Parts: sequence; structure tokens; C-alpha cells
Amino acid sequence: MADIRNNFIGIKSPNPFWLASAPPTDKAYNVERAFEAGWGGVVWKTLGEEGPPLVNVNGPRYGAIWGADRRLLGFNNIELITDRDLHVNLREIKQVKKNWPDRAIVASIMVPCEEAAWKAILPLVEETGADGIELNFGCPHGMSERGMGSAVGQVPEYIEMVARWCKANTRMPVIVKLTPNITDIRFPARAAKVGGADAVSLINTISSITSVNLDNFSPEPSIDGKGSHGGYCGPAVKPIALNMVAEIGRDPETAGLPISGIGGITTWRDAAEFLALGAGNVQVCTAAMVYGFKIVQEMIDGLNNWMDEQGHATLDDVIGRAVPNVSDWQFLNLNYVTKAKINQDLCISCGRCHIVCEDTSHQAITQELDGKRHFEVIDEECVGCNLCVNVCPVENCITMEPLAAGELDKRTGEKANPDYANWTEHPNNPSRVAAE
Ligand SMILES: Cc1cc2nc3c(=O)[nH]c(=O)nc-3n(C[C@H](O)[C@H](O)[C@H](O)COP(=O)(O)O)c2cc1C
Ligand code: SF4
Ligand code: SF4
Repeated sequence: MADIRNNFIGIKSPNPFWLASAPPTDKAYNVERAFEAGWGGVVWKTLGEEGPPLVNVNGPRYGAIWGADRRLLGFNNIELITDRDLHVNLREIKQVKKNWPDRAIVASIMVPCEEAAWKAILPLVEETGADGIELNFGCPHGMSERGMGSAVGQVPEYIEMVARWCKANTRMPVIVKLTPNITDIRFPARAAKVGGADAVSLINTISSITSVNLDNFSPEPSIDGKGSHGGYCGPAVKPIALNMVAEIGRDPETAGLPISGIGGITTWRDAAEFLALGAGNVQVCTAAMVYGFKIVQEMIDGLNNWMDEQGHATLDDVIGRAVPNVSDWQFLNLNYVTKAKINQDLCISCGRCHIVCEDTSHQAITQELDGKRHFEVIDEECVGCNLCVNVCPVENCITMEPLAAGELDKRTGEKANPDYANWTEHPNNPSRVAAE
């Protein structure tokens, strides 16, 4: 059995699956039940400063996008940080940590961007015995209008400044949670590192409007006929999150900076992909909100089984393994040639591959043979784009087959070249460096 115990910046947990700061981690009742279900750790729902707790809307606060089978693909919320009293939360954190010493509890914090506010809350959190803090520089709605959340996360200088304040005023490890609502994620990550943060976590939610009610023309979720943008998460954001994690993992200025990966993680496979791209552990919100806490059991078993099958003994055998394979486009091998191939035994003759290749690709799939429906790739036309693979309703019915070295590419009339050659040296590149 693989060893999936996790040590993230010195914070230990029995597995790498933490619940992200959100409603699932809002109170002791939830967190205790999450730990019973098997979650390795939690980032407690974001705490605000002392004083009257803030208030949420009393109407609907969620929006969603569904696939044709009604499975939730994207999730949107206009919820704020915790609306419970700071001291109630602190008492509960202390008690839960006492009850579950082997699980990780990180406190998420968002207070005004003033040193005094951070100095005031840090000792209170430290006193609970929490394992670390996560600075919420990510929420794109509500709090950002008050100068917090993504309003801080969009300004690298502020990130650096607040991270520095926190490192100077607490012994707890500091994780900076980044907003994806920014053009280049490397700049806030670099700022977090320069400010002394022990790690970054990402992504928080993406600014979004999920739908508009066409009867009253109000964005959803509608509060008395008006809507405001919310934060988008769930499976739909996973590709964006993976790319951002990879960008930080391969940036020489942040290489080695520990990353807690978040965004659309629903299965063990999603988690393994984040780990492979450099995340030291993962956090989950939407999947727990949609399927309940027990979904972690599939994640734990699935990751264990896969690691056993592949011979990965510990998480360190997986973490970062895909980072060296993330490349800029210009370094991709232009001598690598593939052709689509249709498995006639699996094909149900729906014709979708023909339509898409005919209308929007390279007219490389037949639709008829001897007066009968028949779908076959015409190698002389196929450019290997794989659009047909992505629309075929039958899994593995169409595969992409690489040409062997020396094999004739019937489209170009050239033999497949086994040597690696990229755009920087291609004769068509006007700015290539001339060969000596
Ligand atoms: C209803 C809701 C409330 C959230 N509240 C917080 C919060 O208080 N603090 C925070 O850092 N992130 C908050 N998030 C963001 C999540 O922690 C997480 O970063 C995001 O949802 C992406 O992960 P997912 O795709 O697994 O949901 C919230 C998300 C949702 C859906
Ligand atoms: S890979 Fe692209 S070009 Fe080739 S058959 Fe499929 S859709 Fe057409
Ligand atoms: S899309 Fe797939 S199943 Fe449909 S005709 Fe093409 S190969 Fe066959």
C-alpha cells in the first residue's frame, strides 16, 4: 500500500486532501464530520476582524452551469467570509484541533490591509493551536469592494507587504491564497515568496456571472431583481487552475515554492494531476458541497490504488513529476506526426466526426462506402488535430496514432523524421537564428 501521508510546509496530515476555506469548513460541526469521513485537513472558513460579524444576503447565493446529464460543471457564489463571531470560531478551532491532533487545521484570515489589523488577529489565531494561516487575497466579490480579498491579491506589492507583516508577527507557517483574477499569476506568486510566505495556494474563485434570467433580465442568483458578479469554481475551472499551478512550478523565480493546489478537484485523478504539476497537497470545496464529505473516500482509495499500480511509494514520487514536461509552444516537436484512426468495431456510425472534420477541420473523414454509412480517416488529408476524438461519443473509438520513424506521411509526402525539431529552428520562421 502506498504511503499517502502528507507533510506540507511542516504541517502533517494523514493524506493530501484538505477541505478549502468555504461553507464545508464554516463550523466545528462540519469540520468534525469531515474528519470522521477521512479528510486530512481543513482550511477554516475565512475569519474577519473582531467586532460585529458581517452579514450575507438572505436570498439565493449560488449559481451553476450543468452538463446535459444535469451534472454540475461550474459553480458560482456571492457569499462573503464567515458571518459568525470571531471568538466563536476561535473557540471551535481550538476544540477541534484538540479532538483531532493528527489532522491539519489552517485558519484562513482576511482583515483590512493595515498592519495593526493583522497584528491584532494573529495572536488570537495562534492561541488556538492552529497549524498555520492562509491569507485570503482571493475573494473577488463583496470583500474586494471593501479593499480586501482580490483587491489585495491583484497588487503584488500589497501581497508582499502583508506576507511580511504576518511573518514578522507569528510563528505559524503562512500560506498566501492567490486570486486567478489577474493576467499573469507568476507576479503575485513571486511577491508572496519575496514577502517570506512559506507557500501559496491557488486558485480562489474566478469573477463570473453564470446566467441571466430572461423574464426579468436579472443576473442569477437574483436578489430582489438585481445580481452581482460572484466567484466561479468547480470542474469548469480546473484547467485554469492547473495552468496557473504549472506556471508557478516552472517559473525559475518561484521554483520550489510549496503550492497547495485548488480548483475543480472532484476525483483522485484530478488531485494526482495537481500533484504532478507541482502541488504539495490539494484543497477541495465544490466537490464536497455537491457530493458530500464521503467523496474523500474515493479520492483516498483511488490515489492509493493508482500509486500502487504505478509503483509510486510516497507522494514525493509524484509531486512535480509533470513540471519538466510543461513547455512553451515554440519548443514543441514539429516532427511528431499523428493520424486519427477509427476502430470500426466500436463505431456506432453517428457521423459526428465526419461533420466536424468536414465543416471545421480538414475534410479527412468519409461518410459513405458502397452506398452505406462508413466513417474512415483519409490519411492524405488528416492533420492530426484530434477534433474528431473530442466529439466522438464513444470513448477510445478514435485514437491518435503517431507515425513511426521513416513512415510515409501521406498528406505531405514526407517520411516521418525521428529527430526533434521545433519552431525556433524551422525554415519558415522568419526570426530563426541562422545556422552557422
Ligand atoms: C460558497 C463558497 C464560499 C467560499 N468562501 C471562501 C472563503 O471564505 N475563503 C476562501 O479563501 N475561499 C472561499 N471560497 C473558495 C474556495 O475555497 C476555493 O478556492 C474555490 O471554490 C475553488 O475550489 P473548488 O473548485 O474545489 O470549489 C469559497 C467557495 C465557495 C463555493
Ligand atoms: S484528426 Fe482532425 S483532421 Fe484528422 S480526421 Fe480527425 S478531425 Fe479530421
Ligand atoms: S463520431 Fe465516433 S462513433 Fe460517431 S461515426 Fe465517428 S467514429 Fe463512429
